[in-house]
Formats: sequence, structure tokens, C-alpha cells
Amino acid sequence: MAVAALQDLAPGTMRLVQVDGTDILLVNLDGTVHAVQGICSHEYFELDKGFLTGDSLTCALHLSRFDVETGEALDPPAELPLARYPVSLEADGTIVLELPEGPIPVNE
Ligand code: FES
Repeated sequence: MAVAALQDLAPGTMRLVQVDGTDILLVNLDGTVHAVQGICSHEYFELDKGFLTGDSLTCALHLSRFDVETGEALDPPAELPLARYPVSLEADGTIVLELPEGPIPVNE
């Protein structure tokens, strides 16, 4: 599913998109786009309000960090990893998510 254009997601930035009512966070790490669940795995808080530092994303509410490349929670209080979704990039820069049929998996 096409969700955004690469030109709207500069390296080192992130953006929340909604797919079928589910928030998904797109992150551009040095030109590689990653997609993870858009809401923290600890409590309900949008991760685009957090901070990107290198490969890690810090949730602004309780400051858990997550590894963007693996989804792993690096600090408490979050314990569950962020769900990740496969991303592909079309030749024209369209960002495409490969999502399963049915509900989009989210860890909460
Ligand atoms: S809501 Fe993200 S660490 Fe608590």
C-alpha cells in the first residue's frame, strides 16, 4: 500500500501515517525508510512526538528508547518491541508498506 513520498520524509525525520485506522510511523534513517507502529508499546502515546537520535527513537512520554531497525525496547518502562512492517520504495520515490491481510499487528 502506497503511504507517502520519500521527498516528504527527509533523512533523520519521521512521520506518522494512518493505514486503515492504525497509526504507523515512517522513519528515514540515512535514506533507508523504516516503518514501525506509531503508538508506543508502553502506553498510548504517539511516537512522532518523540526524538530520533542515531538509530534510536525515544518516546517523549516516559523516555523509553527503541531501536528503529529491530523495534527492540532498549530502556524501561517499555518492554515490548515495536512492531515493524516491511517497506519498499518504488522508482518514483513512493513509499510502499507490505501489510498482512486483516488487522495490522501492533504490540501493546
Ligand atoms: S508511553 Fe512510551 S514510554 Fe511510556
